[in-house]
Amino acid sequence: MSDTHILVERPEAQPGVMVIRFNRPEKKNAITSAMYSRMTAALHEANEDEAVRAVAFLGTEGCFSAGNDMGDFLAYAMSGSKEPPAAAVFIKALAVAEKPLVSGVDGLAIGIGTTLNLHCDMTVASSRSLFKTPFVDLALVPEAASSLLAPKVIGHQRAFAMLAAGEGFSAQDALDAGLIWKIVEADAVEAETLSLAAALAKKPPQALKIARDLVRGPREAVLARIDEELVHFSAQLRSAEARAAFEAFMRR
Ligand code: COA
Repeated sequence: MSDTHILVERPEAQPGVMVIRFNRPEKKNAITSAMYSRMTAALHEANEDEAVRAVAFLGTEGCFSAGNDMGDFLAYAMSGSKEPPAAAVFIKALAVAEKPLVSGVDGLAIGIGTTLNLHCDMTVASSRSLFKTPFVDLALVPEAASSLLAPKVIGHQRAFAMLAAGEGFSAQDALDAGLIWKIVEADAVEAETLSLAAALAKKPPQALKIARDLVRGPREAVLARIDEELVHFSAQLRSAEARAAFEAFMRR
C-alpha cells in the first residue's frame, strides 16, 4: 500500500482527536489488507495513548469507502491462507476500541463502509450519502457483527433489507432508521465530525468511558458474532459463486 492510503492524523485544531482517513479516492477508498492493518495499529495506539480522547473516521470528497478491495477478496480466496484476514483483525479492534468513535460519511459507504458505522458512537453524513451492503449479491454474508448490531439498531425488517436484500439506504433512510446521528451539507461533514470529536475529547475521559461502555454494553456477544460470521464469510469467500462475482467486477 502507498502509506498515504490511510492517513492517521492528530489535528492541532482539535486537541485529543485522532483522525483515521480513507485516502484512496482513485479506487473509491476500497480497503486493502495493508490499509486494515494500518487502521488496526492506529486503534491500538488510540487505546494506549491517554492523549487520544476520541477517534474520527473520515473519507474523501464524495466517498467514505467502497468497502473491501475486490482484488484483495479474490487474492485471499485464491491463496488458501489459514490466517484470519486483516479485515477480521481490524473489525475486532474496532469492536473493543476504548475511545469514542465518530465517523463522517460523504457519499459512498459500501460494505464495511456501512458496517463500520455500527461500531461508531455518532455518525454525521451528507445528504448525498448511500449506505449499502451487497454481501449476498457477492455471495458473501454480513460481517463486523452487523448481523447482531443492525437488527438491534435499526430493527429486523430494515436490517434484512440492508444486509440480505442489499437495498441501499439514502442518508435520510439511515437517519430515519437510527443508523446515523445527523445529516449535514456535504461541505460541512468534515468540520461537523471533527467538532463532534473535539467536543467529546474535552469531556472528563473516565466518565465518558463509563457512559460509553454502559451504552454499548458488553462486547463478548459482539466478538462471538464476529467469529461466527467469519466462519461463514471465509467459506463463502472461497466459493465458486463468490469467485464468479469478484471476477465479474474485475472484468467490468
Ligand atoms: N475494490 C476494488 N476496486 C474498487 C472497488 C472495490 N471495492 N470499488 C471501486 N473500485 C475501483 C474501480 O474498479 C475503479 O477502478 P479503475 O478506475 O481502475 O477501473 C475505481 O475504483 C472507480 O470505481 P467505478 O466503479 O468506476 O466508480 P463508480 O462511481 O461507477 O461506482 C461503486 C462506484 C462503489 C458503486 C462501484 O465501484 C462498486 O460497486 N464497487 C464495489 C463495491 C463493493 O461491492 N464492495 C464490497 C462490499 S462487500
